[in-house]
Amino acid sequence: MIGADQITEAGVRLAARAGRDPPPAWDLRVDAEGLAGDIQGLRHAKHQVLMRAYQARYMLLPDETRGGSIVERLQRHYDPTEMAALEVLRHGLEAELIGPLVDAARRAAAGRNLDAYVQALLPALRDQPENPFTAWLRTSPHAEAHYRNFLVQSSADLLAEASASAMGVIGEFGPAQSALFRILIDEFGYGAHSKKHSVLYRATLRGFGLDDAYNAYWPLFDTAALELHNAIHHLFQNPRNFFLQVGFLLFAETAYQRSTADHFRYLREFHPDVDARYFSEHAHIDLHHTRMVIEEVAAPLVAAHGPEAGAEIVAGAEFTRAAFDAAGAHMLAVGRAFDIAAVCGKAIYAAPELDRLGAAVTPEMALPLGAVPLQIGGIGMLTDARAFAIFPAGAYGRRLGVDA
Ligand SMILES: [Fe+2]
Ligand SMILES: [Fe+2]
Repeated sequence: MIGADQITEAGVRLAARAGRDPPPAWDLRVDAEGLAGDIQGLRHAKHQVLMRAYQARYMLLPDETRGGSIVERLQRHYDPTEMAALEVLRHGLEAELIGPLVDAARRAAAGRNLDAYVQALLPALRDQPENPFTAWLRTSPHAEAHYRNFLVQSSADLLAEASASAMGVIGEFGPAQSALFRILIDEFGYGAHSKKHSVLYRATLRGFGLDDAYNAYWPLFDTAALELHNAIHHLFQNPRNFFLQVGFLLFAETAYQRSTADHFRYLREFHPDVDARYFSEHAHIDLHHTRMVIEEVAAPLVAAHGPEAGAEIVAGAEFTRAAFDAAGAHMLAVGRAFDIAAVCGKAIYAAPELDRLGAAVTPEMALPLGAVPLQIGGIGMLTDARAFAIFPAGAYGRRLGVDA
């Protein structure tokens, strides 16, 4: 198990690498220092370190560079000695934070037949009722604030959408590789920047008055959002998980065609002026991606490598289902807890102001803080930190204002 002292040390090195006032894309800081003594906080800081380790393995450039020479900043952000130090922690963090989820999925998938699984999965996902989050929003008087939080938490992954899965495409592994590559170039808008899925997502963020810079909201990502981000990256940043990656794509493309249609309808109805192309594009193109993953990736791989590969693909799909379900349930639980605080007169719905955010707080840490204000994700502000104590584990707040 990675200890608090290792996370604290990693935090110091990451902060030094980020330098003063880094642009969000090159901000490597984590909350290690203030959280190491708190169980929930240490888990959160570990996820932050793992996120930094993953995100430093692909190309990121800020919109504009502050703090001197761009070449020197690039050298520092991708410093090989510092990256190697982080890599030393990475496997231990993965084993501790993500490994048990993979083990559970493999147990659930042992001996499963991929064909039968797919035959059941497709109609089950396509015919299910509206997803619980947008269904709940339809009944909520504070839907805009909760949708804003959904966009903030999802931005951890979606502002670099498909960069993780791109890492599973390079290499040399037969005809399935070329089908995966065709899916990947769709994710990148077929080379038209304005159609790249992450660029479409930016437009939806702006429609809710949110900052669209990559990782601008990292201080507000809660533990559940980081867990989903890191679960996906764990698959794709480890070639040994190749068949699990295919399972991820099978489940994600199938589930996404349905959930994005729900989101598109919801936005058209309640926010008709917001750019919803991110969702309409997925509701359409993921029909094709689902077919491609099944027919051109999974089936030939199982034909070539046998049913063991099929069971591993099922495990990847079930791993993804569990990760998506957990993130969705958490989003709802946090929204409901915030609504309860608001009914008790302890919360105000408001967009996050990034320059007012201070020290991180978990529900476990909240009671002794007393009547200080906390920002909770993209939803709004608790006017009394003690109200945060009843929030579910995995929620995350930041102190606000002058005493932050
Ligand atoms: Fe996409
Ligand atoms: Fe897709």
